[in-house]
Amino acid sequence: MSSTLNSLRALADPTRLRIVALLARDELSVNELQEITRLGQSRISTHLGLLQDAGLLQSRREGKRTFYRWNENADNVAREFIQLAVRGAKETREHTADQLNLKRILARRNEQAQVYFNQIAGRLDRVYGPGRSWQAFGHLLLRILPPLVVADLGSGEGLLSELLARRCKKVIAVDNSEKIVAFGAAKAKKNGLKNLEFRLGDLENPPVEAQSVDLVILSQALHHAETPATAICSAFKMLRSGGQIMILDLLQHTFNKARELYGDRWLGFAESDLHRWLEEAGFKRIEIGIVAREEQPPHFQTILASGVK
Ligand SMILES: C[S@@+](CC[C@H](N)C(=O)[O-])C[C@H]1O[C@@H](n2cnc3c(N)ncnc32)[C@H](O)[C@@H]1O
Repeated sequence: MSSTLNSLRALADPTRLRIVALLARDELSVNELQEITRLGQSRISTHLGLLQDAGLLQSRREGKRTFYRWNENADNVAREFIQLAVRGAKETREHTADQLNLKRILARRNEQAQVYFNQIAGRLDRVYGPGRSWQAFGHLLLRILPPLVVADLGSGEGLLSELLARRCKKVIAVDNSEKIVAFGAAKAKKNGLKNLEFRLGDLENPPVEAQSVDLVILSQALHHAETPATAICSAFKMLRSGGQIMILDLLQHTFNKARELYGDRWLGFAESDLHRWLEEAGFKRIEIGIVAREEQPPHFQTILASGVK
């Protein structure tokens, strides 16, 4: 039988017109259709089967439920039939009640979604949210960045450098561990990041030309320097006028084991010390604040300190 005849046959019934009209408005499950139309489940299922066979509907499973909607992939002929069915349904005596019930069901669905968010209000930022991650936020924030030249000092294998290289003009990653530099460089190559260059060097005297970068980053690296003030002065030298330094480090703590566990030289820094070193190096518009606190003991706190040359 031709698809036209199939469609005509499928729509030659007022109940099926009602169903198509409802599914043209929104996706619905059999239970919801039952609530709206007050028809029995088996009758609805039979009608849905016929309409689907005629290519007028599509369905998808979600757990134990199946949701139906009008077939978005239908050809033009089938689309015309669906529009005709919507018009025809308006002539049925159940139409007004169907539309009212549909509105009620959809409102209830929205309420259910809100119930979830109302329940977790006050905790939303801390509970798991599918797809939500600091990495994703990082990518979002990076899009706001202009095409900078960046020096990432004590870069490690390039967790941050790689992220930055996807947006910045050039990233120079400096680390004093030969193995880390070799690993980071190989990873950058594998990831096709041609604007990310790893250099072996010390963050107190980094192999970066004077006045050549727009941004210097020291992420959890400054507490490894023998003389942090020297590292900050070196950062100042390599920055162009108007360039910025960003230091992420630990707030001063008393967790002595950090020396042995993480090879830390300094047990974090007092905000006042960072402020003084930045000022002495020549930085202006200095901003320092605590930006994170770990939930697990010893409750490390992260400071973000910045300044402009
Ligand atoms: C805790 S990791 C931080 C890595 C990276 N910046 C991050 O935030 O993920 C510290 C890194 O600093 C490097 N490092 C330690 N002392 C250094 C120094 N004096 N000069 C350059 N790099 C140093 C280490 O090799 C290590 O890769």
